[in-house]
Amino acid sequence: MHGSNFNDMENGIRHVAVIMDGNGRWATSRGLERIEGHYRGVEAVRHTINAALEAGIEYLTIYAFSKENWGRQKDEVNGLMELFCKTISLEVPSLIEKGVRVRFLCDRAGLSEDVVGSLDYCENKTGHCERMTLLVALNYGARDEIVSAVKAIAAKAAGGEVSPSDIDEKMLESCLYTAAIPDPDLIIRTSGEQRLSNFLLWQAAYSEFYFTPVLWPDFTEESFREALCEFGRRKRRFGKTE
Ligand code: IPE
Ligand code: IPE
Ligand code: MG
Repeated sequence: MHGSNFNDMENGIRHVAVIMDGNGRWATSRGLERIEGHYRGVEAVRHTINAALEAGIEYLTIYAFSKENWGRQKDEVNGLMELFCKTISLEVPSLIEKGVRVRFLCDRAGLSEDVVGSLDYCENKTGHCERMTLLVALNYGARDEIVSAVKAIAAKAAGGEVSPSDIDEKMLESCLYTAAIPDPDLIIRTSGEQRLSNFLLWQAAYSEFYFTPVLWPDFTEESFREALCEFGRRKRRFGKTE
């Protein structure tokens, strides 16, 4: 079904963001290496993309690797980087077929040439796709994103291009990785943790949150639909009365 059934029925929903958590626990509870959980997590990403397409979601953001994740064991970090390289390139034909444009919310400076090469390849190859935009937060930190935006504005101010009194929310937003992308309506986090872990701090100002104990590799299309149903029952007020 190619439609926007959820949009017709309930609160309009354009952007869903997902904190994909629980891969390590999924693996260790089965006596497997943590990296096995990450590999299995790719399957859950495919399910989520399909469910989002079916629901007519315009923007799907997934949190793949945080700035803080560099603090993990070297073999896990290396394994993840290898997984990103392999998966991102491999998935390109199927993403194009589905009409998914991919963009990375990413500090490229901290990544290897191989990884940057596969991100660029994927963005270029899928750039013409229009059905849905998939935003992948990789080497992403929300505080770092805000600091970069502030630096960009400060440089303009120092050069006399903007005056401090011109600085407003719109200007700051235009300097974030998510410039021109609507804020997430719904943020899903798996694995039972109930925190943002430095994800979209600015953009989440009025997002609805949905927490599920399901570990990321077990997340299915049905899990995504359940989250959308719950979202449809929420009353968003944006500070106003009804
Ligand atoms: C999420 O799963 C994936 C990444 C952070 C890269 P985790 O690896 O955090 O899994 P848990 O939370 O340790 O179970
Ligand atoms: C958040 O998960 C980052 C990603 C899903 C990529 P973490 O597992 O790193 O978060 P914490 O450490 O539990 O807060
Ligand atoms: Mg985790």
